[in-house]
Amino acid sequence: FSTISQLSSQQSTPPSFGIAFDIDGVVLRGNTPIGGAPRALRRLYDDSGILKIPFIFLTNGGGVRESKRALELSELLGVEISPSQVVQGHSPFKQLVNRFENELIVAVGKGEPASVMSEYGFKNVIPIDEYALCFESIDPLAPYKKWNTMEAAVNSARKCSIKSERVQAAFIVSDSVDWSRDIQVLCDILRTGGLPGSGEGPQPPLYFAHDDFKYQGAFPSERFGMGAFRIALESIFNSIHSEALKYTSLGKPNPVAFKNAEVVLKLLVSTLYHDHAHSGSHDFRTLYMIGDNPFVDIKGSRQAGHPWFPILTRTGVFKGDCHSNHAEFPANLVVDTVEDAVNFIMRNES
Ligand code: G3P
Ligand code: MG
Repeated sequence: FSTISQLSSQQSTPPSFGIAFDIDGVVLRGNTPIGGAPRALRRLYDDSGILKIPFIFLTNGGGVRESKRALELSELLGVEISPSQVVQGHSPFKQLVNRFENELIVAVGKGEPASVMSEYGFKNVIPIDEYALCFESIDPLAPYKKWNTMEAAVNSARKCSIKSERVQAAFIVSDSVDWSRDIQVLCDILRTGGLPGSGEGPQPPLYFAHDDFKYQGAFPSERFGMGAFRIALESIFNSIHSEALKYTSLGKPNPVAFKNAEVVLKLLVSTLYHDHAHSGSHDFRTLYMIGDNPFVDIKGSRQAGHPWFPILTRTGVFKGDCHSNHAEFPANLVVDTVEDAVNFIMRNES
C-alpha cells in the first residue's frame, strides 16, 4: 500500500471537518461490510484513490496490532487504510508505557494481546494463556478444555522465573476467550499483589480496553462484551475480597478516547497537507462520530463536546424506528446506515 503522504501529495487546503467511524454495527458485522460502507468510504477519496477527507476508525474492538487491522480493513472495505487511521480500544494503553515499560504485565484477550502490548513498547509482557501454564493446577478445568494445545509454548526455565516475579499490572486488551480461567487467574493475581498462590497483597492496577456491555456482532441479537466480563470479574472479586475491585476503562465513552481521536485526526491532517511546521495544530470546526451504540459512541461524543457531532445509525445496537432517537443519549442525527451518514456530511460540508 502507498503511504498516506504519497496518497495525498496534491492537496492544498485542509477541510475544517473530520470523521470517526465506529466499526462493529456501523461498517461491519463480523467480517461482512454493512450499510453501504465500501461505497460510503470511497466518497472520501478522489478518483485516483487519494484520500481527501480526514477520517479514522474509532473502535472499541481490538486484539491485533493497528497495522494488521489496517490491512484487514483495507481488504474488507476496498479502500486503502493506513495504520494511523486505526484507533482501537487498547490504543491509549500506549500512554502507560513509561509507567510499566520493564515491569511484568499480563495481557488478556482474543487475538494477539501480548504482541499488541509489545508493539506499544511494553518489554516484559506475557499473555494470560502462557502465564496460566506456569502454575500447575491453577485452572482445574483445563484438562476438560479440548482446545488447550499450548503446553509446549512456555519453556520450563521461564515458567520458574515467572512464578516468583510479581505481576505489576493486568491489561484486558480484547474480549476474554476463556472467562472461567481468566476470572480465576485474574482474581489470583489481583488479590495477592501479583503473586498467585501467596497471601493477600495490594491490588495491582487493572486496565480494560473498554467497558462495552454488549456489541452487535454477526449474530442477530447482541453479544456480551468486555463490560459484561468486567461485571463477572468484579462481582466475584468483590465477594472474596474486603476492598472493592479498582479498575480503569480507556476506550469509548471515556473522554480520553475522544481527545486521543482528535489528536490522531489532527496529525492525519498534518500528514495529508505536509504541514509539518504546525504538526497536529489544525483546528476542526466539526468532528463527526458515526456510531451504533448510544451508551458508548453517542454518550462519549456528547460528553466530549465541541467539535464532536454524534450521528447514530440503525444497523447495530440501536434498534429504534426511523423517526426515533435514543431517550437518554440522543444523537444530533439518526440515520439508517453509514452511507446515509456520509451523504449527510458531504452535503452539509459542501
Ligand atoms: O468488541 C468490540 C465491540 O465491543 C465494539 O466495537 O467497533 O462497535 O466500537 P465497536
Ligand atoms: Mg459499534
